[in-house]
Order: sequence, then structure tokens, then C-alpha cells
Amino acid sequence: MRSRVWVSQPLFADIVGRLHEHFDVVATEHVGKHSPQQIAAALADCDGALVTLNDPIAAAEIAGAPRLRAIANVGVGYNNLDVPALTRAGIVVTNTPDVLTETTADFGFALMMAAARRITEAERWLREGQWRQWSFETLLGGDLHGSTLAILGMGRIGQGIARRAAGFDMRVLYHNRSRLPETVERECRAQYVDLDMLLAQADHLVLVLPYSPQAHHLIDAAALAKMKPTATLTNIARGGLVDEDALAEALAGARLAAAGLDVYEGEPAVNPRLLALRNVVLTPHIASGSLATRRAMVSLAVDNLIAALGFGPDAGRPPTPVNAGQLKR
Ligand code: DGY
Repeated sequence: MRSRVWVSQPLFADIVGRLHEHFDVVATEHVGKHSPQQIAAALADCDGALVTLNDPIAAAEIAGAPRLRAIANVGVGYNNLDVPALTRAGIVVTNTPDVLTETTADFGFALMMAAARRITEAERWLREGQWRQWSFETLLGGDLHGSTLAILGMGRIGQGIARRAAGFDMRVLYHNRSRLPETVERECRAQYVDLDMLLAQADHLVLVLPYSPQAHHLIDAAALAKMKPTATLTNIARGGLVDEDALAEALAGARLAAAGLDVYEGEPAVNPRLLALRNVVLTPHIASGSLATRRAMVSLAVDNLIAALGFGPDAGRPPTPVNAGQLKR
């Protein structure tokens, strides 16, 4: 009997089409979030699944899926998946690191610049017909060059942002769960500091750390109060890292100059207090969204699923597993 896989969202058909060579494919035709019941029903008779951050999967969703052996997440972040629960059930979990590093770092830098130099606010102002006279003091922003870039979460994407900062002659500080080897620090021209120091010294703080329940609302009112009122905050990681009400209050009260947000706690819903502010640049979770990179992510996820289910040149050895070391053989 051929194995069966579920593809939870419409993804590039020419790439996902490679699955047909090995499996019966059940593909969802509409973009969107499925209910837990829909996910459980879809997984019930499947051996594998290709899913995205739209698809939260935990113990309840796999309870009625005895054949399920592999879940390939299209994304480097996998906080939509309860990895310990999937591991206990013997399910291989994979993600898509590396292929999106540079594209996401590009976007983080762009979002930080847009917030600091008020680019989207300026465009809106111009389109609203408010530009009646050139003036010296119109929409003055903060500089990037010569300023202090503070990176919270110094994995591959954080390091990519640090490398870009060299071209802007920025001082780079970082905080991370563990300090990087000296060679990497030197290459990134980055100095390790504790979190309080990072917040206090930041001219531009960028969040690139993975979300975990321990990091929930890491950037809350108390953390924001430690930052300079001239600083900016950019988040390209996960919305749950930031207390959005506290952020909106700080931005509205000029206790923080500006923010650039690509991710939100309740996305696709955006906190109305943030929507009402001018000094925040809001984008719809597109940091890895260049055409080439999104295609590379899907391709890697397809390779992972094929290999995890025992087919193709990497049979049994998916290229980018998340829980390989933890699964019982
Ligand atoms: C990621 O790869 O984690 C991005 O947020 C898109 O899923």
C-alpha cells in the first residue's frame, strides 16, 4: 500500500508535485488555519504531513493518527508543533533552516531602517497630501550608521544581521542563551552582553530568538522601560515575545521612538492599539518572503518528508531534522 501524506496549505505545486512519485497526496486547496478537529481528521489516515505555522499540532491532533511517522514544517520556527509530544509518539519532525537565513536577515535590516527613518510613515503622509512645502524639520528620524545595534538571539539570522551592520559602521551587541565562539564573535564584530545591558545600550534592538513559553512576553513593560526613548525595536521572530499592549503604550508615550513588526501574537489579527500608531511599521509575516527563498523552503520540506518516510537518496536521514537525537530507534 502506498503511503499517504497531507499537504496542509497550497504551496508551490511544481515542487510539492514531487511527493506524487512516492505517495498518495491529499492537498488542501485553500490557505488558512484549520481547526484542531480538521487537523486531527486530516492526519488520521496519513503517514506524513507537510505543514506550516498555520497548523498547530500537539498530542490531541495526533491521538487518532496511528500511521503518522513524519511532520515536515515549512519554516525554521516550529512553535506551532508540540515537539516533545510528537517525539513521544515516535514522529520525526523537520524544519527548514539555512535556506532562509540571508533573505530574512535582509528583511530584518530593511524593517529596522524603515522604522528608524520613518519610511512608511513618510509615504503615508505624502499620499495623504500633507506635503505642501519642503521643510528642514519634516519627519526627522534616527540614524543607523554609527549607532548601536542590539541583537537578541544570535543564531544564523542574528549573525546575518550582524554581518550586514558592518557596512553601516554600527557597534554590535548581542545576547543569546549561550555565548558564541570567539571566532564567530570576531567575524560578526559582535560583543556579548547580558540582557539588561543589551536593552540599555540599544539604539536599535532586533529580536531574532525562537519563541518558547519561557520567552513569552520577554519584552514587556519592564524591559521596554530599560530602553532609551530614542531607540527602535524590530521583531522578525514571533509575536509572543513582545507584550504588544506594553509596546503600544511605550510608542504612544514617546518612551520608545519606533518599532518595526513582522510578527504578531494573534496573527493575522493585529493589536488595534498598534494599528492606530504612526511610529510603527507593520508587515504581514513576510521576512523570509522572497520568491526564491520561499521556493527553497518548500523544496527542503519536501526533501525532508520524502527522506523521513524512507524514500529518495536520503532515505531515513532527512536533511534538517528537529528531533533526530531524541527519537527512540
Ligand atoms: C519561519 O520560517 O519560521 C518563518 O517565520 C515563516 O514560517
